[in-house]
Amino acid sequence: MSIISDTDKYIAHSYKRLPVAITSGKGSLLYDDGGSEYIDFGSGIAVNVFGASDTEWISAVTGQLGKISHTSNYYYSGPQSSLAAMLCSRTHFTNMFFCNSGAEANESAIKAARKYSADKYGSGRSKIVTLKNSFHGRTITTLSATGQDRFHNHFFPFTQGFEFAKPNDFADTAEKLGDDSAALMIELIQGEGGVNTLTSEYVKAVSDLCKKKDILLIVDEVQTGLGRTGRLFCYENYGIYPDIITTAKGLGGGLPIGAAMFAEKVAGTLTPGTHGSTFGGNPVCAAGALSVIKRLDNALFEQVNKKSKYIIERLSALKNVSGITGMGLMIGIKTVKDPAMVMDSCLKKGLLVLNANDKVRLLPALNIPFDILEKGIDILSEVIEE
Ligand SMILES: Cc1ncc(COP(=O)(O)O)c(C=O)c1O
Repeated sequence: MSIISDTDKYIAHSYKRLPVAITSGKGSLLYDDGGSEYIDFGSGIAVNVFGASDTEWISAVTGQLGKISHTSNYYYSGPQSSLAAMLCSRTHFTNMFFCNSGAEANESAIKAARKYSADKYGSGRSKIVTLKNSFHGRTITTLSATGQDRFHNHFFPFTQGFEFAKPNDFADTAEKLGDDSAALMIELIQGEGGVNTLTSEYVKAVSDLCKKKDILLIVDEVQTGLGRTGRLFCYENYGIYPDIITTAKGLGGGLPIGAAMFAEKVAGTLTPGTHGSTFGGNPVCAAGALSVIKRLDNALFEQVNKKSKYIIERLSALKNVSGITGMGLMIGIKTVKDPAMVMDSCLKKGLLVLNANDKVRLLPALNIPFDILEKGIDILSEVIEE
């Protein structure tokens, strides 16, 4: 019996896993079942904002576990209300809906956008425009919203009413945002699509157009949010005020929680019975999230930007690197090597990195210590150059 053989035997083969079983960790160092150490440049895909086994987070979570681990959303819950109040106090959003994942957050945003439009304008105005090369989740509807053909297989019929515009092409997006449109949904940096950043001119222009036409602007911040790009949410880097944002991944700091956050004009849209989730805003996950948000301050964001600059400077000096994309500690590296091979070689040398389409992708913990970061970049540089 081993973790790997039992996994292969008893768990559906929907993931292409690397041959390693992580059993413990502290900060940005992880350990496998044989005791080998790894530097973690993935943080569970942008989830472990403060690394593994963070002391403050553990204390928040275990403190709540000792009080109540779950009640239903028939009742009020302190951790949930404190988390929502804190998120609203740090943004322009008025209220939110809690769920358990990024896909569910996007599903909630799509439902709210369609209802907002139907309540105000009646039927025939339900189309959601998203971008080519986007990724919005794995449910049937969020796959339908995902602008990559390779995801539109196997599960027919998909949800109707999505159309894909070219990123950074204002004319194309404007043409698709017709009188039949309820919303435009975008990732400011397409994470799974290859860490592709939208230009500020494009984002500003589509944001203005959406405001003018009362088409809701939904920003999917599932990967870009929670300090990842050097601000609490990435939209702040663009100086825009979306109508809805979605967040998950880093929100719980390692426990499953997501949210669709609504600006004032959408805040009254979800009425009793129109949406719900048994676990949404679970007290333990909300307590963990609260401990994460409290520590996302300007001093940390400064560190994120400093580490980002260091990574970019080191990697852009390599002869096998042809481009670096992203923002903050969400970085894509285009090399002459196959990203999957880079992942494999790094693993053998004790470094965990990710890939995203044609890029190697780095999403380290925001508080990764400089000496560990430096050691990891040494290994990555060696792999890329060898
Ligand atoms: C931008 C974006 N949206 C949505 C999702 C889906 O999130 P989840 O896997 O939590 O459902 C992801 C996951 O990678 C993502 O990167």
